[in-house]
Amino acid sequence: MEKKPAMLLILYATQTGNALDAAERIGRDAERRGCAASVSSIDDFDASSLPHRDTVIFVVSTTGQGDTPDSMKLFWKYLLQRNIAKNWLEGVHYAVFGLGDSGYQKYNFVAKKLDRRISDLGATAIVERGLGDDQHPSGYEGALDPWMSSLWIMLYQINPKFFPNGPDFVFDRVQMQTGRARSMSPGKVSHIKNIPDCFLKMIKNQPLSRTGCGKDVRHFELEFVSATIQYGVGDVLEVLPGQDPSAVDAFLQRCNLNPESLIIVHPIGIESHHRDAEGNDSKVPIKLKTFVELTMDIASASPRRYFFEVMSVFATAEHEKERLQYFASPEGRDDLYQYNQKGTKNCF
Ligand SMILES: Cc1cc2nc3c(=O)[nH]c(=O)nc-3n(C[C@H](O)[C@H](O)[C@H](O)COP(=O)(O)O)c2cc1C
Repeated sequence: MEKKPAMLLILYATQTGNALDAAERIGRDAERRGCAASVSSIDDFDASSLPHRDTVIFVVSTTGQGDTPDSMKLFWKYLLQRNIAKNWLEGVHYAVFGLGDSGYQKYNFVAKKLDRRISDLGATAIVERGLGDDQHPSGYEGALDPWMSSLWIMLYQINPKFFPNGPDFVFDRVQMQTGRARSMSPGKVSHIKNIPDCFLKMIKNQPLSRTGCGKDVRHFELEFVSATIQYGVGDVLEVLPGQDPSAVDAFLQRCNLNPESLIIVHPIGIESHHRDAEGNDSKVPIKLKTFVELTMDIASASPRRYFFEVMSVFATAEHEKERLQYFASPEGRDDLYQYNQKGTKNCF
């Protein structure tokens, strides 16, 4: 029998990113408690190796009308095979946290059916499945925090080897080791210079539909403002929504960044498939200003809890640090939600 790795595996299936956030939070919370954990998208995991895992945490959302996220389709198909033995997952411990919305008829359907199937295949639940609900005043986090606390306690009871730092780190007496946050960077960005970019200017924007008819159909004409792009009949132009240029400028200035510097973004953990003959990364560089304008939501996005946790590490004023730590803590969950929802963003 293959030796099972003593590492907590957290598999997530997401359609719009919430389950990824939740999985990463569980992973960080585990590590803070001294429990080694790895977080992976479910489609990066070989379902046939499931019986060789010691403990697996599933974090799955429900989409469509009770459907699995796209990334989970193959995994789910694999689990549903008729020829899998009844005790296929004997010896495996698992827990399921679902993300859903009780406004839907098939509330958290995916988490419920996954839980049932894994259990039917012989695995042992560490804790009753948790169900996050968008309708809760604190969103899915309302259920996640208490569920995580139970998870650590039960996991410790089943297998204390996961927590080499001892029970103090399990029973919520753990202090936030914010120093860790310093090592967590959002992505690797390298700077390069003198590469032209190609942009279009809108020279005509004419409504084609009548006002009040319920649709807004427009005729656009665009012209190149810098380097020429080659195009042919049938090519598709992708239009990305931008945001208020003055807000972008203010953001970059506040962050003390040069808007004109050119960057290449390397997503963490994804091997580049765009390498030139010498093996160098040949992704197209973009201006920092364009990156912020097209990929970030600086005006309306609600910062997540982790953002406050990281910011608290860098805050120098004691009262701001305390407030940020409060927002990042389970006790501050409801106030954080109100803070984000109501836009009363001046309560420091
Ligand atoms: C198009 C759509 C369909 C959804 N269908 C369901 C559903 O059938 N049942 C449910 O419980 N939640 C449903 N939800 C709510 C999501 O599960 C919930 O917003 C969750 O936090 C999304 O997680 P994700 O970002 O990881 O995909 C739906 C959400 C969307 C946007």
